Amino acid sequence: MSSTKEGWGTRVGLVLAMAGNAVGLGNFLRFPVQAVNNGGGAFIIPYLVSFLVMGIPLLWIEWSIGRYGGKAGHHSPPFMFERMGKKHYWKYFAVFGIWTNLAIAAYYCYIESWTMSYVIHSLARTFDGMNQLEVANFFRNYVDITTSTTGIPYEAIIFYVLCLALNTWILSRGLSGGIELTAKIGMPILILFGIFLAIRGLTLGTSGASIAHPDASAWAGIDFLWNPQFDSLSNPKVWLAAAGQIFFTLSVGMGTIHCYAAYVKSRDDIALNAMSAGWTNEFVEVVLGSLIVIPIAAGYLGLDWVKENAGFGMAFQTMPFLFENWGPMLAATAGLFWFGLLFFAGITSSLAMGTPWMAFMQDEFKWTRNKSAWSFGLFVLILGLPTVFFYNFGVFDEYDYWAGTVSLVIFALVESILFSWIFGIKNGWNELTTGADIKVPNIYKFIIKYITPAFLFFVFIGSIFSPKKGNWSAALSSLMSGNGWELDNGSIIKQFFNAGLHEQIAAATDPAVISHLELQLLFTNGARILLIATFLLIAYMVYRASANRLKKEK
Ligand code: PHE
Repeated sequence: MSSTKEGWGTRVGLVLAMAGNAVGLGNFLRFPVQAVNNGGGAFIIPYLVSFLVMGIPLLWIEWSIGRYGGKAGHHSPPFMFERMGKKHYWKYFAVFGIWTNLAIAAYYCYIESWTMSYVIHSLARTFDGMNQLEVANFFRNYVDITTSTTGIPYEAIIFYVLCLALNTWILSRGLSGGIELTAKIGMPILILFGIFLAIRGLTLGTSGASIAHPDASAWAGIDFLWNPQFDSLSNPKVWLAAAGQIFFTLSVGMGTIHCYAAYVKSRDDIALNAMSAGWTNEFVEVVLGSLIVIPIAAGYLGLDWVKENAGFGMAFQTMPFLFENWGPMLAATAGLFWFGLLFFAGITSSLAMGTPWMAFMQDEFKWTRNKSAWSFGLFVLILGLPTVFFYNFGVFDEYDYWAGTVSLVIFALVESILFSWIFGIKNGWNELTTGADIKVPNIYKFIIKYITPAFLFFVFIGSIFSPKKGNWSAALSSLMSGNGWELDNGSIIKQFFNAGLHEQIAAATDPAVISHLELQLLFTNGARILLIATFLLIAYMVYRASANRLKKEK
């Protein structure tokens, strides 16, 4: 995406591309699961508050940083940060803004590749006549590449490589000819498919109840998600989950928004565009995302089943089976709509992940668009194949934890301080409001300066020290009575030491289980080595780029 030739074709195209960046698998797979696991209606208020005091400010901050950087010919985060911070070290914080994308793309494209394959299997009616267990097992066999019973040998690998190649090819066609075009085609289709399935979720009611599941009701699912409950407001665990979902779904804290915004013309609006894309994402997430998987699953299997089985596998393991209730023709159509929707949601996001790397290589090392696109594909392939080969050994989860959760908070915390305190809120506000087509509410000056960084700080501290089972009040009273603070295995500290795995190994008795867990430990550490090596490599390249710039200045 070299500085002179690239640019967005139209404003609608830009907003659709940004909305496509945000609307992703997270909206349909992650949101409903997070909501169910955090008490349904109890989740929704912390979620909305996080959107207002953290999500919207971060969108504005990132669009502003991006357009400001673009004016000086910087299209990826490192030199944008340096320009705003005026000190050399700032650019190293922005290594996260490239690294996160490579690491997320590695596992994200794997899920995306499942959606491609499942579209084909739905149309080929592979799931016809299978019972619930068989459909679930189909997925298990799919991701277990040692057994190939899905019909195509090494199917998971083939689709993964195909999916990456497709992404790379689109990226190589550039911003308006590739990304924007894909968003213009994909977003309307996605929303159309989503509305069709959501209507089904809304109208299913209790008609799916059966002898096995007499209490099944889609209404119960909707009611569970939409009935706000206030008791969760004092539970930091729910707040952390809500904030984490806002991050992931809006694609903030990643570097892609900066990159897209860098190609906006210097006097074009960003304030309203940011809101259009952000609110589109929220509509798709809160309305469409909550009206498909949960109501349909609750409509056939009951709410209790959903609560017990909520996980992102539901989309692949359960949905194709439930569609069978609608007869073979509609089942194939619903499968096409559901997995097609997921595919478009996924690809418009994974394309975004390629752009910070590409822009960096083009700006700093004068690589061609083609070369930077294919190098991205190759890099992701190297990082991603371990998630494919060792899916059952924790590599996937390890990437998701560090890149898809922790890294976003660090990057966002740093950029919010940079924007409001180093660059200065006055300058920042100026940048945001230049060319704005809306009046940005003044209260946001205060929110961006104080509330957002403070909020992010608490999210970060909260994730480092999450107490056992997320029970903060028990942990606090234990601390007060001198019994210390027991950390949860999901806390950053425990996770760092693989505490959960070590506990499982210590508790296991079956030798087969032990050896599986030990392998898991091995692969988890291997995944970390890969992630760290990638980080160091990017940091080194930022260093080289900087040295090149200094040489040229002399
Ligand atoms: N926001 C996307 C989703 O909801 C994920 C994403 C991550 C997009 C990183 C771009 C960069 O699925």
